[in-house]
Amino acid sequence: MSSILFDAGSRTWLLSTPSSSYALRLDDDDTPRHVHWGQPLTLAAARELALPSPPLVSSFDGATDGDVELSVEGGAVFGVAGLAVRYADGSGGVEWRYLEHAIDGGRLEISFADRHYPLRITLHYRVFDDSDVIERWITLRHTGTEDAIELRRCDSGQFTLPVLPDYRVSHVFGGWSREFQLERSVLPVGETVFTSRRGTTSHQANPWVMLDAGSATENAGEVWGAALAWSGSWRLTVSRTPGGRLNLTGGFGHDGVRWRLRPGEEWTTPVLCGLYTVDGFGGASRHWHRYVRAQVLPSRDEVRPILYNSWEATGFDVDEEGQQRLAELAAGLGVEVFVMDDGWFGGRRADNAGLGDWYPAPSQFPNGLKPLISAVHGLGMRFGIWVEPEMVNPDSDLYRTHPDWVLHLPFRRRTELRNQLVLNFARPDVAAWAHKWLDALVADNAIDFLKWDMNRAFTEAGWPDSDDPDRLWVDHVRAVYSIMDRLRADHPGLRIESCSGGGGRADLGILSRTDQVWTSDNTDPVDRLAIQHGFTQLYPARVMSAWVTDNPAHFTGRSAPLRFRFHVAMAGVLGIGGNLLHWSAAERAIAAELIAEYQEIRSTVQLGDLYRLSTPDGFVSAAQYVRGPEVVVLAWRPYTRFGLTSDRLPLVGLDPDATYRDARSGTEYLGAVLGTLGVPLDLPAGDYASSCVRLARR
Ligand code: DGJ
Repeated sequence: MSSILFDAGSRTWLLSTPSSSYALRLDDDDTPRHVHWGQPLTLAAARELALPSPPLVSSFDGATDGDVELSVEGGAVFGVAGLAVRYADGSGGVEWRYLEHAIDGGRLEISFADRHYPLRITLHYRVFDDSDVIERWITLRHTGTEDAIELRRCDSGQFTLPVLPDYRVSHVFGGWSREFQLERSVLPVGETVFTSRRGTTSHQANPWVMLDAGSATENAGEVWGAALAWSGSWRLTVSRTPGGRLNLTGGFGHDGVRWRLRPGEEWTTPVLCGLYTVDGFGGASRHWHRYVRAQVLPSRDEVRPILYNSWEATGFDVDEEGQQRLAELAAGLGVEVFVMDDGWFGGRRADNAGLGDWYPAPSQFPNGLKPLISAVHGLGMRFGIWVEPEMVNPDSDLYRTHPDWVLHLPFRRRTELRNQLVLNFARPDVAAWAHKWLDALVADNAIDFLKWDMNRAFTEAGWPDSDDPDRLWVDHVRAVYSIMDRLRADHPGLRIESCSGGGGRADLGILSRTDQVWTSDNTDPVDRLAIQHGFTQLYPARVMSAWVTDNPAHFTGRSAPLRFRFHVAMAGVLGIGGNLLHWSAAERAIAAELIAEYQEIRSTVQLGDLYRLSTPDGFVSAAQYVRGPEVVVLAWRPYTRFGLTSDRLPLVGLDPDATYRDARSGTEYLGAVLGTLGVPLDLPAGDYASSCVRLARR
C-alpha cells in the first residue's frame, strides 16, 4: 500500500510506496528541501531526519548542496538550475513562498508563489499501491496580467540521493540500428548531461538513468533510477557535487530553447519518474516493467499479437497482389496481424517522393485499400498499415501546396535528411490536417493497427510566423500525443506501434498511447541480443517488437539458423519480417511450429517477470520469465568455444520448496536445485545454438 503523510510541526511530507519512502520538508525560508529517498520510514523517523540546514562552510559555498526538490536560480545557489526564468524587467530566479498543499489519495500537490513576481509553482507527486515508482512533475502559472515570463529551463523535478562513497551511472547509448547499448560507468564529480537535441527521444540516448554505489549486482543492491515520460528533446543532468552528494534534475527541452509563459497561462511539464529498490538492476527492471504494464500502457492486460511486416520483404515495391500473396503465407504460419509497410501511397516508389500524399497509389491499388484489407480480414488476421504523418518529401503535392508547413528559418537552407522535411505539428492547421486524414484512413478502411514512423531529427527548427517559435519543441510532441489520443478514443480497437527509424521514439510518454515499439531496424539476431538487453533494462518485453528476417542479415551480412532467429525474437513481441515467398516448405514448417510455441509462452514472456540470467557479451546468454506457475527460459549461444560448458544456468526467483516440471521432457526438479545448479538448456552443438525451456510449478 502507498500513503502520503504530513507533519505540520516540521512541515515534512512522507510518501510511502510498497517498499520505499520519500520525504521532503520546507526550510525556514520555504525552500522545498529533500529529506530522504530509500528504505521505508515512519513519519516520526522522517521528522527526525528533517534537520535544519547546516550553516555555510565558507563564503564560497552554496546555501544547498543540491538537496532541494526543484533547483531554482537565486541567492547562493551555484548548481544546475532546473527552473530558470527571466521576467520582463530583466530580473530572474525564484524566491519561494509556500502557499498550500493538498493530499488526494496517492497525489500530493505543494504550491508556492514567487515572493515578488507573478509566478505560481506547484510541485506534484504521485505514488501507487502496486509500484515503487514515484511520479513527479510541476505546473507553472503566470498569475499576472502583463508581460510574458521567459522559461529558460523548466524541469519536472529534482531527485537527490544519499551521500555515498562512490556513485556509478547506468544508461543506454547508441545510434540508428544499434540502439540501447548498456553502459555502466563511475560517475565523476561534476555535471554529467544525458540529452537529445533532436526533437525526438533519439537513438543516441534514452531518457533514463540508474544510479548505484558501484556495488549493486543484477540480483541485489540499492539502485535509484529516473525516467522521463517525453518524446521530444530532453535533458537529464546528474550532478555529483564536490560536497559528496548526487542529484538529478531533468525534463523536456534542451540548452538554448526558451519558452514564453503568457499572462494567465498554465504550463505543465512531463512526468519524471523515480524508483528506489534494494533488488539490484534486475529488480529495478522488474519494477519498471510492472509500472509500465500497470500504469503506463493504454491496453494493459492485453498480450500482443504476432505480426507480419512487409518492409524487409518488399521495400517500396508494394502492390495489392504482392501483399495479398504475403498475407496468405503469413496466415498459414499463424500470424495474427498483417502490416503493410512504406510504399503504398501517393508517388512513393523510393524514399525521395510522395511523403505527405496519403492516398493509395492508384497504379498499385486501383480499387483502393479495401480489397486487400478484406482479404487480410478474410484470412483471419487484423490489418495494419505504415504511416509517417510528421514528414513530407519536397517532391510531393503537399509540399508544393504548403511549403510553409515545415520547420524552417528565413534565409537558411532547409536541410533534407532521408530526402524529407519535418512538418510543424505545433501549427494547429497542420495538426488538424494530419488528424483528419489519419482518422479517415482508419475509419474508411477498418484499419486495426498503425505503425507510426518518424524518420529524421529536427533541423532549422524555426516557425517564422510565431512570436514564441521555440514552443514548437514542446507543442509538436503534444500534437502527436493528442492525435494519437483522439484516434484511440474514436477507434477503441485501434492499436499503434511507435517507430522512429527503429527505436528512436521509445519512452514512457509515447508508451502511454502506443502498444509496442519497433525496437531497431537492425534485425541481425546477434546484434539484437545486445539491443534487447539494453531495451529491457527499463521497458518490458510486452512492448518490444522483434521480427524474424531473412539471411543474410541486412546490416551485418550474418546468416543464422531460423530457429536461432526465432528464439531471439521470441524474447519480445514476436513478428516475422522475412520474404515468405522465398521460404521453403521446411522453413515454413519450422516457423509454424515456433509460432505455435510462442503462442503458448507469450503471456509468460510479455506479462511475466523478467530475470536476466547472463549478459549478451557472455558465452551463453539467457532470459527467464516467470508468471504464476509458468517459467520460460530462452537461451542463446551465438558461438561455441571448446572447453566451456554451457548446458546449465541457475534460475532465479523460484520457490525453492516447489517442484517444477519440464514441459518437453517431463523431468521434475526442486526449485532449490534449479536455483543452484540450474536447468539443462539442451543447447545443440555448434554455433548459433538456442533453446526454449518451459517449466511449470506443480
Ligand atoms: C523505418 C522503419 O524503422 C522501418 O521498419 C520501415 O518502416 C521504414 N522506415 C520505411 O520507410
